[in-house]
Order: sequence, then C-alpha cells, then structure tokens
Amino acid sequence: MAPALRAVSAAELQERIDSRNEVPFSVWDGKVRMSVAGFQDKLLVLMDGQKIYLADGSLASTHILKPEPLNSATPHMVANEHFCMRLTSRLSLRRFGQDHAAAVDIIRVPSPVLSVTRFDRKGDASGVERLHIVDGCQALDMPVSAKYERNMGNGKDVQHIRDGVSFEALMSTRQYLVQPAVGVRKLLVWAITTLLLGNSDGHGKNISFYCTRAGLNVAELYDLISVVQYDSQQYERDLAMAFGDVFDLSEIGGFALADFCMRTGTSRTYFARELTTLCKIAIDEAPLQAADPVYREEEVPLVQKIAAFVTERANALLAMAPTIPKFRNDFF
Ligand SMILES: Nc1ncnc2c1ncn2[C@@H]1O[C@H](COP(=O)(O)OP(=O)(O)OP(=O)(O)O)[C@@H](O)[C@H]1O
Ligand SMILES: [Mg+2]
Repeated sequence: MAPALRAVSAAELQERIDSRNEVPFSVWDGKVRMSVAGFQDKLLVLMDGQKIYLADGSLASTHILKPEPLNSATPHMVANEHFCMRLTSRLSLRRFGQDHAAAVDIIRVPSPVLSVTRFDRKGDASGVERLHIVDGCQALDMPVSAKYERNMGNGKDVQHIRDGVSFEALMSTRQYLVQPAVGVRKLLVWAITTLLLGNSDGHGKNISFYCTRAGLNVAELYDLISVVQYDSQQYERDLAMAFGDVFDLSEIGGFALADFCMRTGTSRTYFARELTTLCKIAIDEAPLQAADPVYREEEVPLVQKIAAFVTERANALLAMAPTIPKFRNDFF
C-alpha cells in the first residue's frame, strides 16, 4: 500500500483533546484508527522531529500519544508517568548502563500530552520497520481476562482465585529468553519499580516481549505510574501481581519479598543486593528527576510528592533487604 501521511497540527490535537466527550479520540477523518490495547485515550502517530502525522499504508506509527485522562480524579497523569518512566531510565542506566524504559517526552499543545517512543518500531518518515512483540498475557497464552493475577477480581469471595498473570508465571518464560540473565534482570527491575513507585497497575499487558527466531527478549518497560498518588476510592490500589501472598503495597515486608524470590526462582541474596543498590540510586535520582524543568505549575508539587514517596519507600526497602536471605527454607 502506498505510504500516506496526514499531518496533525498542535491546534488540531488540542481541539480533539477538548472535544473528547463528543468525538472519541480514536476517530479521525470519520474513521476509527487502528488502536492499541489499554484503557486510556491514545493516538498512534508517526513523529518526524516535532511534526506529528497519522500514518497509513506502508508507513507505520513510531510514537504513542497519551493526553491527560478525562477522569478528573487522576490529575497530572502525564507528569506522573513521565516521572516514573524517566526515573526508571535513570536507575537502569546508572546500575546496568542500559535504559530499561521506553523513551518519553511531554508535548504541550498547550495541554500536556505524553509521547512514548514505540520500541516495536524502527525508522522514521522515510520508512518504518515493525518488530514483532507480544505482551505478557500472549507470551503465557492467557486471555486478556487474566491480566490481573486475581483474575476474578478482588471481591471477598473470589480474591483467593489467582490464575492470572503473576510474577511467577512471567518468570517461567525464562526458558524461552534469548538472554535469560538480561531478561530476568529487566523483570526484576519492573518488580522493584512497582515497589518503589507504587505502580500497582503492572498487569500482564503492561509488560512485553520481542519475538525473534532465537526466542523472546523482554522489551523496555512502559505504562509506569505512581497510582498510589490518587484517591483509593477512585483508583484501584491493590497490586496487579502479589509479592508472595501480599497484594497490599504497605503490607509488603522482608518475608513477602523472600517468598517472591522463592516462587520466581530468584536467588534471595542476588535480589537483596540488587534491591539495595537500586534503592540507594533511587534516593539520589528521584529528587533530580523531580527538578527536571519539563514539569510546569501544578505538576511540580505532584512530582515532588512522588519523589518523596520513592525516597520513603526506598528507605523502607533498604531496611527489609538484609532480612530477605535469612528466612529458613522450610518457611516457604
Ligand atoms: N513504548 C511502547 N512501544 C510499543 N508498544 C507499547 C509501548 N507502550 C505501550 N505499548 C502497547 O500499547 C498498549 C497500551 O499502552 P499503555 O499500557 O501505556 O496504555 P494504558 O491505556 O495506560 O494501559 P492500561 O489499560 O494498562 O491503563 C500496551 O499494552 C502495549 O501493548
Ligand atoms: Mg497499559
């Protein structure tokens, strides 16, 4: 099919953000555009420098644009996600010399829009190559309805049913990983950012794998949000996946983390060491990320609040880490 690019100006994007109640954000030029999974409004675009296009034919999108959600109970989600992603980049770059998070930016049209670089695309307006990825549910051959470990929900009568995607199930993919050590490390960084950021919505479709002839590779991390910043009446805060048997972030202690290691086949000494190192880095880097001049007005106190939360969580985890290797094996 012939390449087709349709420019989207900042003014048009702003107008579409403002009229989302009347016209769904996914409908452009009278057609529903190919959409991606997920709950929030999103638009797949090809970005060439600052220019934004809808791409068709032999061209493909290179970025995902996420405006602020319409839900007023979750203000400054764009800054929140940007902060969580950039902090994860800082942690992984400093610890491993490798960026484990997808690249993000904030575009202001002038409403803030998070632009996420697609890791399953390579190229620009002169040609885009598509890489094959599957999400955690697909990799485990589980239906979308199993994206939360408590696949029937967390109602009192069904919360014991845990047939959905868990850390244990995700780690069982290690046998298919091209570089198991690197992949496992990325999955552990994801688990640790869940603990540090309060990213409770890390479910089975919020982690992906590249599919290659040689096997799977864990993709860059995405959709990292400090959900705990928002009112628990409005937003589910239970963890998508338990650490051991614990789904409540505030109840996680050394034993739950040791249990997590046992179930996922992770050396407890190794996990304790990585957790300690990453927490120390987080204490350094969270305030630096909060000071990024990209944040404006009311976003500034929100990212400062997240940075303070990360520091508090890191200190709590640092105190737990030395206990992780110490529980007797017959406790599990
Ligand atoms: N950087 C990326 N590169 C490629 N694919 C991505 C990237 N980020 C997200 N995706 C894909 O797009 C989907 C939706 O993105 P995302 O999870 O950020 O949206 P969401 O609406 O916030 O999701 P949720 O329903 O979990 O709240 C993901 O499930 C994933 O399949
Ligand atoms: Mg998602």
